[in-house]
Formats: sequence, C-alpha cells, structure tokens
Amino acid sequence: MRIPETKIDEIRSASDIVDVISSYVSLKKRGKNFLGLCPFHKEKTPSFNVSPDKQMYHCFGCGVGGNAFTFVMELEKVSFIEAVRTLADRAGIALPTEGGDTTQATENEGLYNVCRLAGLHFHENLMSTVEGKLALEYFHHRGFADETIRKFGLGYSMNSWDDLLKHAQAKGIDTTILEKAGLVIRREDNSGLYDRFRGRAMFPIFSPSGRPIGFGARKMREDDPVPGKYINSPETPVYIKSQNLYGLFHAKDAIREKENAILVEGYADLISVFQAGIENIIASSGTALTEEQILLIGRYAKNITLVYDADSAGSKATMRGVDMIIENGLEVKVAELPAGEDPDSFVRKHGGKEFQKLLDGAVTFLDFKARSFQQQGLLETPEGQTRAVRSIVETIARMSDELKRNFYIKSVGEKYGIYETVLFREMEKLIGKGGARAQRGERRPSPTMGPPEVQRQEETTPATVPLPATERDLIKLMLEHGDDMVGFVFSHIGPEMFSHPRGRDVIKRIRACAESGRSWDAAALLNEIDEPDLRRFITDITFNKYEVSRGWAEFGTVLEEADPVVIAEHCILIMRRQELDRMLEENQRRMKDAAARGEHLREYMEQHQTLLREKKELETIGSPGKKSLA
Ligand code: GTP
Ligand code: MN
Repeated sequence: MRIPETKIDEIRSASDIVDVISSYVSLKKRGKNFLGLCPFHKEKTPSFNVSPDKQMYHCFGCGVGGNAFTFVMELEKVSFIEAVRTLADRAGIALPTEGGDTTQATENEGLYNVCRLAGLHFHENLMSTVEGKLALEYFHHRGFADETIRKFGLGYSMNSWDDLLKHAQAKGIDTTILEKAGLVIRREDNSGLYDRFRGRAMFPIFSPSGRPIGFGARKMREDDPVPGKYINSPETPVYIKSQNLYGLFHAKDAIREKENAILVEGYADLISVFQAGIENIIASSGTALTEEQILLIGRYAKNITLVYDADSAGSKATMRGVDMIIENGLEVKVAELPAGEDPDSFVRKHGGKEFQKLLDGAVTFLDFKARSFQQQGLLETPEGQTRAVRSIVETIARMSDELKRNFYIKSVGEKYGIYETVLFREMEKLIGKGGARAQRGERRPSPTMGPPEVQRQEETTPATVPLPATERDLIKLMLEHGDDMVGFVFSHIGPEMFSHPRGRDVIKRIRACAESGRSWDAAALLNEIDEPDLRRFITDITFNKYEVSRGWAEFGTVLEEADPVVIAEHCILIMRRQELDRMLEENQRRMKDAAARGEHLREYMEQHQTLLREKKELETIGSPGKKSLA
C-alpha cells in the first residue's frame, strides 16, 4: 500500500527528530545540536549528533546518518512504510488502513505483527473468557490492579494445543512466521504445530519502543505438566534477549527523569514496584546482566541501583553485575532487601514508601563489597582482609576515569587504614597488565566532533574513491540553501563535472527535487534513498564543515559568515580550472599521437591556445577579493 506524499510530509513535520530520538537515546544539548551515545555502535563517549535545524542525525564515530524515518528503520530494523506507521502512531496521525500487504512486509514486520496479535489474543482471553477468569483472579490475588494489567498488557494462554494457532490462522497469518516468533512449536515427528504457551499467565515483553516482541509465561496451576515456573519466548530476530530489558518501555521516561534505573529480577517484582509508584524500574528476567543491556540503560541514565535480597547479594552473579556496570562507565549502587523477600513481596507487605526508603539507603559498590566480605567473615584475618582489599581494588581498576579511581582508592585507604601508596601500587599493577578497558582493545573516541576525517577512516571503509572537496562543498551548499543555490550551480556547471560516482548520484537527486517544484530539504531527500550508505554519505557532508574554503581563514574570512554564493563560485572555478587542465593534457596527448602519424598539428595548437586563454581568464576572477563569476 502506498502512503500519499502529503501524508508523509505531515508525519515528518509532526515528528521532531530530537523528540523521536530522545525516546531511544539520552541527548544533551551542545551548541546548536544535541549529542548522545550512538545507538548503532558501541561507544562510551558521545559522538552521535542530532540537529534540530537540519532534522537529521549523524554519528561521527560509525558514520550512520539520516532523518527521523531512517532512524526508526535502522533501529527497529523495519521498512520505510513501517517506520512511517510508527511515527504516525506516535504523532497521532491516522493512516489509511492496509489491505493485506503481509506478503510484502519484511520478516521483522511479520514478527512484530504476530507478537502483537498474540498479545492482544492473550489479553482478550484474560478479560473475556471463562477459563481466563482464573488467571484474572490470579493477577488480582497478586495485587495487580486492572489498570496495571492493561498497562502491561498481561494476558492468559488457553490450556489448549492450538488455540493461538487457530486464531492466527483464521487471521490469515502464515504459520512459518508463528513458528519463527516462537509462539508455536513443530512436533518432533514433523506432523504439525502446537502452541508453546498453554494455560499460563502471560507477560508480554516489549521492545524499548513499545512493540511486543516476546512473552514470559508463568505457571498457574499445580498440575501444569511443563517444567519451570516461567517459560519464555525463544530468541527471534526481533527478540534478542541480551539486548532487551523487561519493562524498559514503560520505565524509560521515569528513568530519564530520575537519572537512575532500578534493576530487579522478576516480572512480578517489576510490576508490583511500578504499581506502587516507583516507575524507573526494569527487570533482567532472571538472567545475568549483559554488557549490551548496560549500554542500553546508559542511553537513558548513568546510574543503576541493583536490588537484591540478602541471600543473593554476595553472589558471584551480583558481583559480576557490579563490576560490569562500573567497567562500562555507569555508577552503581546496591539496595539490599531483608532475607527471604523479593521486591514484589516487600512492596506488598510494606508499601512503596518503605521500598523507596530502602532505595535511598542503597550503598556504593565499595560498601556493598565490604559488607559482603564481612558477612563471609573475610575481614577477620589479615589474609582475608588482603584478599578483600585486592578484590575491591580490582573493581576500582576497571573504571576508566582516573579522577574517580583516585577518589575511591582514597576512600578504601581511609576505611581500612591502609596506606594509599600501597593501594595505588596494587592498582597500577592491575592497570599495567592492561586493565579491563585496554584488554578489550578499546579506543576512546574524541569527545567532540573533532576532525571527522580521521574517524571516518578508522571505522568505516567506503570502498569508493575520495570525494573531492569542491564537489563536497557544492553538494553541501545545495542541500543547505535549496532551489536558488541549485539553480546557481547548474547555470555554471553540469552534473558531468562531478567526478565522484556517489556525488553524482546525489546531485542528480538534488536536481530532480529542485525541478519537481515541491518544497524539499536534505532531510526530505533522505526519504527517497534506500541505501543506508548513501544516506551516510549525505549526512556526513551536511554535518561537516565546508572544506575548500577552509583555507580562507588565512584571508581573514569568517567562514560561517561567508556568502554561500561566494563559496559556490570558488568551488566552481576550481572545478573548471581542473577541467581545463584535464582538457589541456588530453589535447597534448592527441597532438603527440597526431605528430607521430605525421598529421597536421594546427588544430591542436589552436585548441591549446584557446584553452590557455580560458584558463588565464579564470585566474582573474573568483576567490576572495577578486572579480565575481556571476
Ligand atoms: P513470582 O513467583 O511470580 O513472584 O516470580 P518472581 O518474579 O519472584 O520470580 P523469581 O524471583 O523466582 O525469578 C525471577 C525471574 O527469573 C522471573 O521473573 C523469571 O524471569 C525468571 N525465572 C524464574 N523461574 C524461572 C524458570 O523456571 N525458568 C526460566 N526460564 N526463568 C525463570
Ligand atoms: Mn516473586
């Protein structure tokens, strides 16, 4: 189905790029632009730029770039149409409904689609079937209010082998997609398919942008033959477990606002705490925290509070979690629950206020480690104490910030009455060995935009010839100044003057935009470009400075204030001069050949003179302080 151009324009103007990207990435204002951690590659120092003026983004680290639509496309791995839908939904703009375009939808869209269908079906089962009533009572019994049940899309899977299968088939869903989404399982003898989730309380898992991508399913009855209190969706192309966190979609605004994410283990824990009014909470769903998850949290806040019960607080997994958070440059605190309680049971017994108090009393990793060593009785012997201190120093050595390291080393010294010099020596040994950061071979990207050329070479390897500075600047000028500039440039040179294949491709598109008579800008142009590499090419140009005229600074020209027409003239003149040089060379070559064949050379000589004259003429105009071209 085609969405009309005017609709797309409407959606674009309703979707401010800073708003859109802010719901995925934490952005800070830097000058005219906003800066954040790039969601498309791993980095700890922000090089991802978003320009409200241009309505475009560009990463100086990995080179990605585009507009609001391409951002959604690339982050959610969906097609343009699906991205348009997402932004339309977000902006509350109604789109014409589709007429069965599932065949052409990409696989990911199909997966999102069936997960949504299944989620709605489970919810429907819960709310309006006799069998589902049992599950509804179960949720109520757990203290979940109806509003909470709706908000988290809780549901119930019927105790049947094919309830979902039949429902989906009736809706015309392809069974292979159901299987890919992990909702149905193929029988071992290959005789057919059956529902994965049967007779369980269903917790849909949402992507950070709020689409159902998988499910957690809790056992509800004693006679459930399937082992495991919880069973979960398997990994699928849209549900990559190490890259998702339960509850993030619901929590992200609160996380950003509080600048802190509370991490618990269970689905039920999350829902209870959220319902009690503490909304900046996410759950690991019982698996060990991954580095990707930490970086995901880091897009929203720099502080994580781990909540653990007293029994598991000293566990290896918790310690690893703490170390991993520190290593990734985030701050971590640990709140400990009384023995035998989990956040869910605690909140239900004592309420949200008490839970908040518990969070307020969260301790730094230093005190947390010390306390668990103490509980293990390690601090009673000198050997034990040495081991404990070494372990703490090991954690400190993981920090990439030297000031922070020094601060914590001093605290440890004070706390244990150990000479700082001893601790520093210990730490230097660890860092000298390479330290966590160096071992992983990480390079720190420069904190600001820096000279982009250097980074481009390091991280992206375009298999193309370099773009001449003149062509780059002309493209930038046309993208920035629109129709008038396009008219000016093409009244002096044609597209054939552009030597760079991609550059030529872009200027042809620019020209087509200008000739279409529609209003357009660089961000709009990006919508027509399917190849991500070409989009990068464009944002790279628009987010970088003019190149040819950089040398003008020597003439005392302030570049930001330079007249765009003057910059354009300058580029055109250089390109023409280069063209004349090429023609001179070519003429000379032909003259040689002609001489070798014993032919007349007069024509070539005349041509040579003409070209030289033209060249001389060009030298009298253009560049600052000289006669103008126009
Ligand atoms: P409730 O008993 O419903 O309160 O569960 P909980 O959320 O307190 O779960 P628990 O603390 O036992 O486990 C924490 C999380 O680990 C759960 O939310 C699940 O994500 C996961 N989990 C628990 N049991 C199982 C299991 O048997 N299999 C799998 N795959 N995951 C589990
Ligand atoms: Mn529980």
